[in-house]
Amino acid sequence: MYVPAEPPLALSLFFRPCRITPEELIAPWRPHQVVGFASCNAALWGALRALRITSADSILVPAYLFRSVLGPARALGIECQYYDVGLDLSPDLSEIEPKIHSRTRAILLVHYFGFPGPVAALRDLCDRRGIALIEDCAHAMFGTAGGRPLGSYGHASVFSLKKSFPVPGGGVLVVNDPSRLFEEPRHSPKVATTMRLLGLRLLNYVETSAGQSAKTALLSSHDFRRQLARRRSGVSGDYTARLSALSRALASRVDAEQVVQSRRAAYTYLEESLESVPGVTPMFPSLPPGVSPFCFPMYVDDRDSLQDWLLRRGIHARVYWDAAELPKGALDAFPGLRRIVDRILVLPTHQGLQPKHWLAMSSAVRSFFVPSSDDPLKPIDDDASNLESPFVRTVSGKLPTSVTRCSFPIGYHASRMEVCG
Ligand SMILES: Cc1ncc(COP(=O)(O)O)c(C=O)c1O
Repeated sequence: MYVPAEPPLALSLFFRPCRITPEELIAPWRPHQVVGFASCNAALWGALRALRITSADSILVPAYLFRSVLGPARALGIECQYYDVGLDLSPDLSEIEPKIHSRTRAILLVHYFGFPGPVAALRDLCDRRGIALIEDCAHAMFGTAGGRPLGSYGHASVFSLKKSFPVPGGGVLVVNDPSRLFEEPRHSPKVATTMRLLGLRLLNYVETSAGQSAKTALLSSHDFRRQLARRRSGVSGDYTARLSALSRALASRVDAEQVVQSRRAAYTYLEESLESVPGVTPMFPSLPPGVSPFCFPMYVDDRDSLQDWLLRRGIHARVYWDAAELPKGALDAFPGLRRIVDRILVLPTHQGLQPKHWLAMSSAVRSFFVPSSDDPLKPIDDDASNLESPFVRTVSGKLPTSVTRCSFPIGYHASRMEVCG
């Protein structure tokens, strides 16, 4: 079996009817502007430009972040000042406020793994101090908080298409403030780049259907992973290209409700099935209503060995993020982040997975921590009915009952919502 980290691109998506424009899909309230970019980082560059933040200014960003996300600010010469986050990745507002100074123009809030940050309180703080709020919804497509969609609170918000959908790239900037409109990017992304990313998506589909991937075997070398982490965390990029026509067309065929229900079902399954496994601590204590989980993040001691174990069994578990991927100086400023970067591991929950993949993940994690339990993936068999662990058998026929309780607001996209920026 192969359990991919990202949703594979099934050919059937090309033949689905076009449901909705990507603009309406992502921002079903009434934002003042929605702009498609080639990546989420490019959309963030657009947000900084729209908010007229320049090299004379400073922004507050979380110290726990993928280093390349700061690329757009660096490209514009904007100073980034870090703030800390706790083990639940939540910022402490009383720590943030004293950091605001005369050159601070915005705060970047990340809704990590789809779980909302304290967005209403942060918007109040920004309004009080006369600065902008930028919501980073790269992981938080279709999420809500306090009954409002994520991305509708900030003066500007950014989304990543490729993280949630099987598309070859794309990011979206949403502007909720009428005084900050932005000129749309004019040039298309390089065709070669789009085709390469499309090829990888299709390959992912073939590998998932075949139940085998060379990727997990390669990644199960710890040294290889480290080198890759170092290479991936570059901060340069072309931030001026628009969303490709192909990503636009594929995104418009996505069924938002199916995506959310499927992600919640996978998360709930993993949460319930790993609850009693000693050594696994879910990062978030529960799955609140309105959350569309990007993945299942957990804390484990001896994380690298568990990651090797899972990769050797075809499960693409990831580290979000390795110490080498954090912004320069972040760990020196906040050594407490070590408790996150050394112990975090995330399991996929995307809509491309089936219950047999959920079973395989929970069984493999369990067999790592409880050596006496069956290791059903040795070598892994693609037929879920062959997974013989007694634990798995109790849940294999039937989804956990809570899976059927969907707290995603059905009809989210039925009409455009009224939300003021
Ligand atoms: C929180 C966050 N924001 C933005 C980005 C950039 O997204 P993209 O790679 O789609 O440009 C990432 C990428 O990992 C991310 O994790």
